[in-house]
Amino acid sequence: MVVGVDYYPEHWPPQRWATDAALMRQAGLHVVRLAEFAWSRIEPAAGEFRWGWLDRAIDTLASAGLQVLLCTPTAAPPAWLTREYPDILPVDKHGHRHSFGGRRHYCANSPIYREHTRRIVGAMATRYGQRPEVIGWQIDNEFGGGQTARCYCHNCVTAFREWLQRRYGCLDALNDAWGTAFWSQEYADWSHIGPPPPHGEKPNPSHALDYYRFASDSWVDYQQAQIDLLRAKIDGTQFITTNLMGLFSDLDYYRLAAGLDFVTWDSYPTGHTERLSKMLYPANAAETRHAYDVGDPAITGMAHDLMRAMKDKPFWIMEQQAGHINWGDYNPVPLPDVVRLWTWDDVAHGADTVIYFRWRACLYAQEQYHSGLLRHDGEPAQGWRDVQAMREEQTLMAAIQGTTVPAKVALLHSYDDLWALELQPHNRDFGYLRHLFTYYRALQRAGVPVDLAPPTRDLSRYELVIAPTLFLVDQAIVENLRRYVERGGRLMLSVRSGSRTMSNRVVDMPLPGLLSDLVGATVEAWHSLPPEVTYPLEVTGLGGESFAVETWAEALKPVGARVVARFVAGPMGGQPAISLNRVGRGEVVYVGVWAGDPLADTLLTWLLRRAGVGPLATVPPGVKVMHRAGEDAEFLFLLNFTAATATAALGESGYTDALTGRRVGPAVEVPARGVVICRWRQS
Ligand code: GAL
Ligand code: ZN
Repeated sequence: MVVGVDYYPEHWPPQRWATDAALMRQAGLHVVRLAEFAWSRIEPAAGEFRWGWLDRAIDTLASAGLQVLLCTPTAAPPAWLTREYPDILPVDKHGHRHSFGGRRHYCANSPIYREHTRRIVGAMATRYGQRPEVIGWQIDNEFGGGQTARCYCHNCVTAFREWLQRRYGCLDALNDAWGTAFWSQEYADWSHIGPPPPHGEKPNPSHALDYYRFASDSWVDYQQAQIDLLRAKIDGTQFITTNLMGLFSDLDYYRLAAGLDFVTWDSYPTGHTERLSKMLYPANAAETRHAYDVGDPAITGMAHDLMRAMKDKPFWIMEQQAGHINWGDYNPVPLPDVVRLWTWDDVAHGADTVIYFRWRACLYAQEQYHSGLLRHDGEPAQGWRDVQAMREEQTLMAAIQGTTVPAKVALLHSYDDLWALELQPHNRDFGYLRHLFTYYRALQRAGVPVDLAPPTRDLSRYELVIAPTLFLVDQAIVENLRRYVERGGRLMLSVRSGSRTMSNRVVDMPLPGLLSDLVGATVEAWHSLPPEVTYPLEVTGLGGESFAVETWAEALKPVGARVVARFVAGPMGGQPAISLNRVGRGEVVYVGVWAGDPLADTLLTWLLRRAGVGPLATVPPGVKVMHRAGEDAEFLFLLNFTAATATAALGESGYTDALTGRRVGPAVEVPARGVVICRWRQS
């Protein structure tokens, strides 16, 4: 299983299935995902199972030599179920109940839905859990998709109260954690607590953050119920996973991933770039031009790296865009070879198997404008040709499977911080992911791969840890960072770190709160800057470069740390803005400003040098370098996302081109929208 495809046999006459299977083989595909929305075909009426068609589809694929990945079909409950039990339909925050006709129209906390889930999942597991052609299971499909992560129905309200009782034990603790003395919000009875109010004033941010956590945990719990059922019935060789959505941020994916064997995700580079570039880039950034061409290498890259972070190991792509999509504002066709570039980009970031979405463009319903590897008429589309042209490259993909992505730098990431800042950004331009993305992009420009990681993970293998806005902090996080730094690690923290407790209250101590000791400085004042207002900054300690600070500025008071940068004029004129503190054998840098690209580049050049981390290769803009390492060989990926040939300079010699076997370097030409994979330490 190196490459595969998402297939919907229920959309096509059974007479066509054998032709499809043969064409799949011809394209070099090995694995086929089935049935994630097929509930109404499997069980057209309560308790009446029709397995015949699915048996036959699996048989047809298997006899062509294809492996099958089955899904539990719970993302699309059938009409008979929702008619009989409207209570399973979710309710949005304005109190509107969803209706039948789309997908994901169910609540994770509905006891009735849980019961029907057990029935359908149990029946599928019994029927297919021992079949050797079935290699594994995808649970449901894209939890939280279509803005369904947070339900506000009466079942959820009850479950929320129970969740709060488990978390706080008593109402006094909850009242204190949420600060309910404010505006007469105190609760004297658990039954008085509801979801955060959607109308009028903004909700209490502690209340809202707990609701986000609770809603996310509801899916973790719902998924775990499916995992338990499957594990009890399926063969031990079948794996269990689900498909995540990259930078989607309504669920705590670290928690969702915990019970799975590995994660997979659905990558749509042009659509994600269109949707996310406005959020991640400053207004008018030149890079967004990639949207309609190859997608954005940094946006796709950060999503890949975040997905790898979920279990700190390789992942699969469950749906790889392989033509135009249907859900963008504009939906252009990717140029020839781009599917190959995306596939190798997936692998470069840690994908072990890539499954393309979808086999054939559908003739009806919501996604009839979505491309497939085959066109509507069943003839090959560009995607099929691109995939077919990669057949020879599968040997190399197989050799790379299971190798790791050995990054020396980590970028800390937390859903708690993301949610808390979304609730109270205090500045419209202060986006948590945007702030992370600035540093992510700077690392990509520097040719340095990075791991994303939650703040509680063991960091000892990193030379440098970047923690932009570590907003919610407790003793466990501080101790984890201290352990890392004292043994010689280098940590960079930025603005607003240490501001909040885990219950999203501001701390009762000088900022950066519990991190002050590590930082060796405190924040004397902080300013949220409106557009057009900038504070001039001089990086005195680093050759005196000047920068204009936007969005957020903090004046520091060193308590042992040395000053690296100061504001040179304006309300904070003369005051320190960036500091460096020695702690044990390591050091902590605090960056008290929101960094734009130029400052992020300067800071990272300096920090990487101090950490002894060099680039894998020197790459021009739009070209990415990645690294995977195994026991016998290491691979360097040079991926060119631009429309012109580019030259990368390798730092070391002894490389061969992994596809042609020729020696390469030190200068390597990478074709437009092309890729060069170099191998060294060949055995
Ligand atoms: C995914 C989803 C698929 C399909 C696809 C279209 O998010 O999982 O079922 O809708 O988008 O691009
Ligand atoms: Zn609900």
